[in-house]
Formats: sequence, structure tokens, C-alpha cells
Amino acid sequence: MTEKFIVQPTGPLRGSIEIGGSKNAVLPVLAAAILTGQNCTVQNVPSLSDVEYMRCLLESLGAKSILHDGTLTVDTAAINSCEAAYEWVGKLRASFLVMGPLLARFGRAKVSLPGGCAIGSRPIDLHLKGMAALGAEVDHSHGYVTVTAPKRAGNAVAARKLTGAEVYLDFPSVGATENIMMAAVFAEGQTVLENCAVEPEIVDLANFLNSAGAEIRGAGTDTIKINGVQELKSTHHSVIPDRIEAGTFMVAAAITRGDILLTNVMADHVKPVIAKLKEAQISMEELDTGVRVWHEPGQDIIAADIKTLPYPGFPTDMQAQFMALMSVAKGTSIITETVFENRFMQVGELKRMGADIKIESRSAVTEGVPQLAGAQVAASDLRAGAALTLAALRAEDITEISGIHHIDRGYCRLDEKLNTLGANIRREECDVGG
Ligand code: UD1
Repeated sequence: MTEKFIVQPTGPLRGSIEIGGSKNAVLPVLAAAILTGQNCTVQNVPSLSDVEYMRCLLESLGAKSILHDGTLTVDTAAINSCEAAYEWVGKLRASFLVMGPLLARFGRAKVSLPGGCAIGSRPIDLHLKGMAALGAEVDHSHGYVTVTAPKRAGNAVAARKLTGAEVYLDFPSVGATENIMMAAVFAEGQTVLENCAVEPEIVDLANFLNSAGAEIRGAGTDTIKINGVQELKSTHHSVIPDRIEAGTFMVAAAITRGDILLTNVMADHVKPVIAKLKEAQISMEELDTGVRVWHEPGQDIIAADIKTLPYPGFPTDMQAQFMALMSVAKGTSIITETVFENRFMQVGELKRMGADIKIESRSAVTEGVPQLAGAQVAASDLRAGAALTLAALRAEDITEISGIHHIDRGYCRLDEKLNTLGANIRREECDVGG
């Protein structure tokens, strides 16, 4: 069923909102559960379609899972297939992360090339470079990648096994860091992963794995060392709060000139967004209960430049939402996207709402306008969809946003949560083609 948002203009959003578990942390943790071959319990799991796709993928491999009230139990003991089919991987790029765990546990994995948000070509060369460095043979055919660990002579327990190695990533890719880290958990000896990603989600994944008996040190720095272990055990884990959902609600407070208290947020993880919002003259306060974000009456929102970078730089996943804010700021802001090519999909739609934005190579030059206008717009990807929803909250009249299945991939009930703060967003079925 295709749905759309109908966003009616309202005033400032006010109140308190609880941020959910992190999408980008829970997906690798679910893939990592494969390594345990046991029953694991994961708490603070957000209710998202991407989580459902990942569960379906794990179940297609033979795993069992139950999600109840934010707690997911996943039992990977009965996994009997090493093949992740296009049906699931094509829907969700993060499902490519099952490659490392399957290869480590079974010595072989056949994984369809990934899909996911349409934000550039998103290659997987770094993932495969890492698997090859650990000794895997890599083969591509018919849209699938097969990785196979070398045979070990006379060992009936683990007939195929990887060997620890030094792996240098040309770019600190989040997914490649996670995939290689998981592949190395059972590798013989030590693996040293250099120039790796330092995102909080990497640390969360390492914490999950270490709680199951892995030996991973240095997660959160650019060098991770993994000492291979023989097996993992069952474990419990609680997923970190979603820093991108938190940032999105911060922008919701700013763009509507509202006042929102965010709870279940790790302020440290949102530092670059907080810094840029402060530069735009949005007020912030860290309280015991959470982070309060508000717009001081009479204060202009001031244009601020941003450049997306790997953590702890400004997150690419907040670029579109920040652009929505800058489209109503005073002055000109230059937003430079360095992480992904082709991640300005929201620009054309924001322009339909009256924004004044010009793309110049990898930068978007946004001249703030006093007010946006409602229009019919389409969400092309997850964060572009969030940006359009934020812009619609500040538009003069009704905005219709189609393609909201992209938003549901990564935000749990974004419309309902915004409505509890005073927004007026209705979810409606689209006409065919709408
Ligand atoms: C993850 C996040 C995504 C976020 C991104 C960057 C998840 C599920 N998704 O995506 O929300 O936007 O990090 O913070 O966690 N690259 C290569 N070769 C590779 C892998 C990546 O060239 O083998 C490039 C990509 O094309 C991109 C850059 O590296 O230009 C960053 O990608 P990466 O960090 O891998 O992002 P994802 O893990 O896909």
C-alpha cells in the first residue's frame, strides 16, 4: 500500500519526545547475532520497516526472531543457508552486513548486491577488500558476490577459516568497518583494521560482540584490533539512541520556532548538529532529563555553512534536514556533501516549496526565504523525506508528501510523534501512481 503525508500548517511544536533506538546500530547488531549461533536479546529496538526487512532476511537463512514491545529475541542456531537473496538484500543495503558473519561462521557466504537509498553508487569494494585480506576468495556472478574462506587441513570443526590480517581502509566506511570487524571475530590470530570508521554505531556493535565473548579493542578510534576467538555465547544488549532521529527533532523545534525536550538522547553523539544549530542561533540546554532545543522569540535563524564528513564531523544523514532549516534562515548557507555523491535529491522538491537553492558541484547554495509554500512533493529517500516533512511544518499551506515508505524505513511513526508535539500530519493512501 502506498501512502502519503498530508501536512497542515500549525504553529511552533512544543513538548517532550522520546528518541528511539538507533536504526544504524540495530541493523549490524542483528547481522552480528548470526555469529553467536545462539539466542540473543536486543532491547530498545525501533519499530521500522528496515528492521522488519532484516528480520525477514535472517529468517530466510533459518533464524527465528520475536519482537515484542521493543525487545527482539533472535535465535540464529538453526541457520542453514549462507545465501542472502536479492528479495531482501535488494530492499535494504545494510543487509549486505550478513556477509561478514556468514563467512566467519560457515566459511562461505553468497550475498546479493545491495539496494537501499538511492544516494549515489554506494560501492562495496572496501568490504570485499577486507574479506580478501582475511584470506577469502571473492567471486562475482549474476548480481551476487560469493566469498569463501580457505580450507583448513584436518580440522573437522571449522573446515574453512579466515586468518587475521592488517586491513587499511581507503575511506572510513561505516559498513565496511562493521562487515570486516564481524568477519574477523573467528579469524585465526589478530586482525588490525586501520583508518576505520569511528561512528557510535561501530562502538555499539563492538560492545554487543564483546558481550558475547569477542575480543575487539579500539572501536571508536581509527584502529580496531580483533583477536580471533573460537566461539561466541548468547547475550543481552540494549541499542544506543538514534542520533539522526534526535537531530531531526532538533531541527523540528528550530524550523517551527518551537521548544522541544528530547529524552533518551546521547548529547555527545549529536555534538556536530548541536554546534551547527547553535551557530544558527537556536538555543540548547543539556538537562538531566534530556536535551532542550528551542527558538528564542524574536531571534532570527541565521544561515550556517555545513560540510558533511565521517563522524565526528557533521553527519551526511542530517544534511537534508539541515538544508530544510537553512531554506528559511536569514542569509546564504553553503552545504557541502563530501560523503556521498548525488545526495541532494531533496533540492528539487524543496524548490517546489519555494526554497531558493542552487547546486554547484558538491555544494548547495541556499538563500533563505521568509516562508515556504505548501506543494505536492515526493520523498526520494529516507532523509530527503524527513527534510520535506520538516519543511512542510513551516509551509504556509497544505503539503502532500508521497513516497513516505522511505521515511518509515528509518523513522518510527514520525508523523505520530510530530503530532504529539502539535503538528497536524495525516497519513492517507495514495492514488495509483501517487
Ligand atoms: C552508513 C549508514 C548511512 C550513512 C553512512 C555514512 C547504516 C545502515 N547506514 O551507510 O545511514 O549515511 O553510513 O555515515 O549504517 N564506499 C566505498 N566503498 C565501499 C563502501 C563505501 O567507496 O566499499 C563509499 C560510499 O560510496 C560512500 C562512503 O564510502 O561514498 C561512505 O559510505 P559508508 O560509510 O560505507 O556508508 P554505509 O555503511 O553504506
